[in-house]
Amino acid sequence: MKKLLVVAHAPSVNTRQLAESVVRGARHPDIEGVECQWLPPLDAQPEDVRSCHGIILGTPENLGYMSGALKDFFDRIYYPCLEHTQGLPCALYVRAGHDGTGTRRAVESICIGLRWNWVQSPLICRGPWRENFLTQCEELGMTIAAGLETGLF
Ligand SMILES: Cc1cc2nc3c(=O)[nH]c(=O)nc-3n(C[C@H](O)[C@H](O)[C@H](O)COP(=O)(O)O)c2cc1C
Repeated sequence: MKKLLVVAHAPSVNTRQLAESVVRGARHPDIEGVECQWLPPLDAQPEDVRSCHGIILGTPENLGYMSGALKDFFDRIYYPCLEHTQGLPCALYVRAGHDGTGTRRAVESICIGLRWNWVQSPLICRGPWRENFLTQCEELGMTIAAGLETGLF
C-alpha cells in the first residue's frame, strides 16, 4: 500500500472544499493500492513526509506568497527530509484571488531545493470562486494517486 500525503492549508470554506476534493479524488474506489491522508501544514511532521510515496501541497495565495502555515511546514521539514526524500513525486494547487504566480514560484523553488519530482504542473484556482475548481482538484488527487498505484512515478 502506497501513501499519498496531502499537506494543505484550508482556512476558509472554499479552501477546505478544495482539500476535500483532492482527497476524494485520491480515494477513488478504483484506486485500491493507495491510501491518502490530509494533514494541515502545522500538524505535518518530517516523519510524515519521509514515510510517504507522494505529496500534494495546497495553499491560498496570501500577499503574493504561500500561507505562513505552509512556509512553517517547509521550514521544519527541509533539513530533516533533504537527504531522505529526493525524487519524491509532488504536485501543488493554489487558491488565488487574482494571481497565484508568486506562490507557485516560491513553492516550486523550495521543492526543487528538496529535489522533489514535479509530476504535474501546478494547478492555480484563480479568480472568483468557481465550482469547477472542485472538479480540477478532484482530478489532481485522482491523477497523482493513480500514477502512484501504477508505478508511473
Ligand atoms: C490577507 C490576504 C491576502 C491575499 N493576498 C492575495 C495575493 O497576493 N494574491 C492573490 O491572488 N490573492 C490574494 N488573496 C486572496 C486569496 O488568495 C483568495 O482569494 C482567498 O483565499 C479566497 O478564498 P476563498 O475562495 O476561500 O474565499 C489574499 C487574501 C487575503 C485575506
